[in-house]
Amino acid sequence: MQVIHSIKEMQQITKELRKAGNSIGYVPTMGFLHEGHLTLINEAKSNNDKVVISIFVNPLQFGPNEDFDAYPRDIERDENLARNAGVDYIFYPEVGEMYPVDLSTKINVTKRINVLCGKSREGHFDGVATVLMKLFNIMMPDRAYFGLKDAQQVAVVDGVIKDYNIPVELVPVRTVREEDGLAKSSRNVYLTEQERREAPELYKSLQKASQTIFDGEKDLDKVKTAVINAIQEKTSGIIDYVEIYSYPELEEIKEPKGKIIIALAVKFPKARLIDNITFSI
Ligand code: PAF
Repeated sequence: MQVIHSIKEMQQITKELRKAGNSIGYVPTMGFLHEGHLTLINEAKSNNDKVVISIFVNPLQFGPNEDFDAYPRDIERDENLARNAGVDYIFYPEVGEMYPVDLSTKINVTKRINVLCGKSREGHFDGVATVLMKLFNIMMPDRAYFGLKDAQQVAVVDGVIKDYNIPVELVPVRTVREEDGLAKSSRNVYLTEQERREAPELYKSLQKASQTIFDGEKDLDKVKTAVINAIQEKTSGIIDYVEIYSYPELEEIKEPKGKIIIALAVKFPKARLIDNITFSI
């Protein structure tokens, strides 16, 4: 495994890999790798000749109240994890390499953002879209892997790839879960024992809601209310949102049709948990 710091060198490598007939699977990350990233890397490994990842904490996607400097970083640990997972190249640029001067253009995401977590993160997805446009041009992958835990990010990336005809296949990867269904997250450790026992109710309520829709329920307000009631009854968490939208458009729908997402965010005193379920009807 090689760690590459310069854009020029990375582009040269990806060009040569492609010329030699290799398919390239790409996992973009901000580092501090966890099991979710390793699942993406595994998926990329099983469908591509070479696997490249990027580790770049992107200042453009941090809001004024979000601490860019405090974002956890540990490149040695990441290198070991990536090597053991069979990554071929890590692209690990400095901020000055990615943004040497003020950009003269920025991507302004206009749809799929003013809902779910995007509502309270103004400008966040502009930053994600802008850095990914650069990274796709540097890594030149055949396939790019994103976790469905952040289904809104997947929806935004889908929009960017389609709008700008980027020749990359977006591969959404299902959420990794604990045995009891709780979505894996580095935040789960901040739950008390009691909250940890309650937390699987989040996914259970989503599963139940999707089953109700499969069973023929057409009234989505009713479905939403059932999810809210279940979470309020069975957990001590405070609901931030429970929403049902078309997916990946993230638009309001009157009744279930086509691909749908039911998404929720619930706050516990020391951890805000998000989860979602997507399915077609
Ligand atoms: O999901 C992330 O870690 C980041 O938003 C991404 C996709 C690497 C872009 O900086």
